[in-house]
Amino acid sequence: MNSGLSLDGKTLLVVGGCGFVGSNLIKLILKKYNPKEIIVVDNLLSSETKNLPNDKRINLIIGSISQTEILQKINPALDYIFHLACFHGNQSSIASPIQDHENNTLTSLMLFDFFHSNKNLKKVVYSAAGCAVADKTYDNPTATEENAPVSLFHDSPYSISKLIGEMYGNYYFHRYGFPFVKARFQNVYGPGELLGAGRWRGTPNTVWRNVIPTFIWKALNKEALPLENEGESSRDFIFVEDIAEGLISCALSGVDGEAYNLATGEETKIIEIAKIINSLTENDGNINLLPKRDWDNSGRRFGSTKKSKEQLNFTTTTSIDDGLEKTVQWFLDNFNFIKGSIEKHELNMSKFN
Ligand SMILES: NC(=O)c1ccc[n+]([C@@H]2O[C@H](COP(=O)([O-])OP(=O)(O)OC[C@H]3O[C@@H](n4cnc5c(N)ncnc54)[C@H](O)[C@@H]3O)[C@@H](O)[C@H]2O)c1
Repeated sequence: MNSGLSLDGKTLLVVGGCGFVGSNLIKLILKKYNPKEIIVVDNLLSSETKNLPNDKRINLIIGSISQTEILQKINPALDYIFHLACFHGNQSSIASPIQDHENNTLTSLMLFDFFHSNKNLKKVVYSAAGCAVADKTYDNPTATEENAPVSLFHDSPYSISKLIGEMYGNYYFHRYGFPFVKARFQNVYGPGELLGAGRWRGTPNTVWRNVIPTFIWKALNKEALPLENEGESSRDFIFVEDIAEGLISCALSGVDGEAYNLATGEETKIIEIAKIINSLTENDGNINLLPKRDWDNSGRRFGSTKKSKEQLNFTTTTSIDDGLEKTVQWFLDNFNFIKGSIEKHELNMSKFN
């Protein structure tokens, strides 16, 4: 799938590497390549160190990438940077816009500024968000392309921060030749997305994260699945191992300054996801129809796969049915770990009941 280049013998930095996507990326890199060192910087805001594989090539630095003393601890002989840190997610950012700024905007600026003149760097891959670019529509959507126009009006500070990260990276690319590539994710799901991971961030959605892990947990506990907007919204759901492959493709084959969608190109309605999960978990099909979330105007969307297929030779390989089956199995295998992670937020959650 890649250009013949390799991560063998290379020194990598994964910012946010204890998180859902970061830890899956590290596992895939260790499976496919033999890197010299993987430096992980993470302040554990939305993750647990248990996510990281136990491997002597991993060097974990706990702290925020927006702090100079943390940046100074990183081996400057870096070949590749994967920047996956964020203030997770939309609703936490609405609850705490300043914390979002510190962990989702300042992080990108500090990282790019610190390394912008590092001549050893081959690529800096930024985890951009397809949702920040997609058109807001409930009508039949068209596939969002990389050059789609971007609105100046956004539903959340999170979305704004993800775009500012792109803009800062573009600035350092134009001005200094910083080898910056944007990987625009659609909605990622899969094993390792730990409900309740990290610290409370001011809303119960700290615990529930995204729709798929929330549905699986509730279905395994025989609860009704909450379907906002009657499940008519849709997303392009991409399995986390496919995202990890796409990130590696961006690092090895991406052209500096370019954006690439990491997408399946397929639209799936939330109600279809609910039905598959209820069937896989033998939940009795309970569904709780709710109104649209007041802040969420994203409607229906999916990403165009054309450019990443043509230029990176990247395509996804996991179908939604297979991916959901693997994810349900991960929940079953880690049930008590997930339960404990959710329970540590119970006192905070009770304030909202
Ligand atoms: N999961 C998705 O569906 C999705 C979609 C679009 C974009 N993304 C982007 O992909 C990236 C990874 O997402 P994820 O789902 O793995 O989220 P995650 O919350 O699991 O991972 C983010 C990681 O960043 C760490 N972090 C936060 N602030 C930090 C700081 N100041 N310094 C160092 N580390 C810090 C967190 O502790 C966590 O480990 C994020 O940038 C996110 O915006 C994700």
